[in-house]
Amino acid sequence: MFQKNIDLKNFTTFGISAFAEEFAVFSTVEELIRLLDETEKPLTILGGGSNLLLTKNIDGVVLKNEILGIEVTEDHTDFVILKVGGGVVWHDLVMHTIDKQYYGLENLSLIPGSVGASPMQNIGAYGVEIKDCFLKLEALHISDKKIETFTKEQCEFGYRESVFKRKYKGQYIITNVYFKLSKIQTLNTSYGAIDAELNTKGISIPSIKDVSDAVIAIRKSKLPNPSELGNAGSFFKNPVVAKSIYEKIKQSYVNVPSYPINESELKIPAGWLIETAGWKGKRIGDCGVHTKQALVLVNYGNATGKEVFDLSQKIIDDIYQKFQIQLEREVNIL
Ligand code: EPU
Repeated sequence: MFQKNIDLKNFTTFGISAFAEEFAVFSTVEELIRLLDETEKPLTILGGGSNLLLTKNIDGVVLKNEILGIEVTEDHTDFVILKVGGGVVWHDLVMHTIDKQYYGLENLSLIPGSVGASPMQNIGAYGVEIKDCFLKLEALHISDKKIETFTKEQCEFGYRESVFKRKYKGQYIITNVYFKLSKIQTLNTSYGAIDAELNTKGISIPSIKDVSDAVIAIRKSKLPNPSELGNAGSFFKNPVVAKSIYEKIKQSYVNVPSYPINESELKIPAGWLIETAGWKGKRIGDCGVHTKQALVLVNYGNATGKEVFDLSQKIIDDIYQKFQIQLEREVNIL
């Protein structure tokens, strides 16, 4: 059943109004196939809507994935395999694994969005990416309505990248994701901010819950809660730059932060570049650059997608002018 002319404002974390010509939800693969059988119109698939900026109304059909379920498909002495529906809220999955003491996803606590969307951009935070615990996924091939399985290698994961954002863009709908999680304590607290947070709490031997709580505390201190202030997390990727460019910036800014990539390249935090260029906390109309994390653009209430997009372009142009670095958007733009 398609609903007509539906406002997507509450289906994306940016909270920006844009209308879908037709809209429907599916909670099983069979339902999804039935919906596809009933339409020839162009498709847009929504997950949690947490990495999406809508700049116009959407022609055709918008489908929302609501396939639920977290199921143990294999239980071994030292690891489990979980099959998770694409419509499961990401943080609900993380909380489930913490409850059960399955190790691997705790650093990814509180990331907004859905499980089905998580492999699209290989979500990551605090030294972990989903590719580290990812086993395989099932996706419906839209053109022939057949389910296909993709292994980790076939997903071609990169930094906020996968095959589904590139060569297979718009061709598949991710229905289920399988994770391989350790039953033996393996925690990754080496990312500076986690250790510091645990230290301030006086925790020297953390549990899985301690690490998750630390990540939640760090995220809450820097990142705006979408239910209070519309946003889509990091709006830009951290750029990979040539060492020569980094050295040039270092001449003026001795403390420029960086992460090594290889012999000749490193990553500079886009948040640092944007803050240093003077954009942090800037507001234009109803949109702006977050006051606590310059990588995040926010909607103060009634911003349009175009206004947010135009602000992001101004930032991209300014960073290029000041640092000769081309920022790339991380958020999907429709
Ligand atoms: N920084 C600034 N000013 C700012 C923001 C950051 O100078 O306004 C500097 C900080 O001083 C720090 C560095 O940038 O040295 C890194 O900042 P932070 O640890 O906050 O992480 P990030 O590189 O800005 C990335 C991810 C986040 C993820 C964090 C933690 C991307 C695009 N973003 O941000 O992911 O939570 O690391 O691992 O890679 C997301 O993708 O939506 C997201 C929030």
